[in-house]
Amino acid sequence: MVRRLIPYLMVLLLGGLMLAGTAAYAQDRDAGRKVAGMCRTCHGLDGYAKIPIAPHIGGEPASYLAAQLQAFRSGVRKHEMMSVVAASLSDAQIDNVAAWYAGHAVAATVTEGEAPAACTACHGADGMSQAEDVPNLAGETNIYIDTQLKAFKRGKRRHEVMSDIAGRLDDTEIRMIADYYAAIEIEITQVD
Ligand code: HEC
Ligand code: HEC
Repeated sequence: MVRRLIPYLMVLLLGGLMLAGTAAYAQDRDAGRKVAGMCRTCHGLDGYAKIPIAPHIGGEPASYLAAQLQAFRSGVRKHEMMSVVAASLSDAQIDNVAAWYAGHAVAATVTEGEAPAACTACHGADGMSQAEDVPNLAGETNIYIDTQLKAFKRGKRRHEVMSDIAGRLDDTEIRMIADYYAAIEIEITQVD
């Protein structure tokens, strides 16, 4: 009796594992769009920020967005607004909302100035991320960029690469770089 059941149980078990596998990896953008209802007053539904202290997050790499939300939730990165918002999010909500915002395209146009050579390998001359763990800087406000660089410099925000890079910039350089990336014009559109 048990013997005859074994193949049947194996099918059930494998089927279950496969389903669990997809559930763990599939990011649900429709569910993410709903979560983004909590974010839109500050970041917009398309990720184009509505307030100067909030960054544009549309079209950022999903893994970067998810990592930052986890950092706010765990307290590694702190902010009076985002720490509260992130505290209420589950892992699935973080993955889904990251997928929602990441599923946007950013068109960046450089209008003036010279790209800071020390930053372009990772952030691009046009402020567009060159790797999955790197954020876009294009079109972020100079206030936001300035705040983040000073946070890295003073140890309020930590990252193995950025803490070191920001630590070597003085306030005048920070302001010039922030102005350069802030002047890049961006347009964010939803893809598919
Ligand atoms: C009340 C305004 C507000 C709301 C609502 C809000 N945010 Fe934010 N968000 C901010 C601000 C301000 C920052 C910048 C924090 C800092 O200076 O470190 C930020 C930063 C972020 C970052 C870091 C981006 C980067 O480039 O490092 C992510 C990701 C993010 N928010 C996602 C979300 C998501 C997802 C939601 C909704 C679930 C949300 N936020 C809701 C204001 C808000
Ligand atoms: C070797 C790659 C690398 C280089 C070079 C680099 N960055 Fe970064 N930068 C990163 C990574 C990775 C992050 C994400 C840090 C994190 O996860 O908190 C980041 C984050 C940032 C942020 C935070 C943006 C946000 O959305 O919160 C700013 C601002 C920034 N970098 C500015 C600069 C500037 C200015 C330079 C040049 C002086 C520079 N970076 C050079 C890799 C780099």
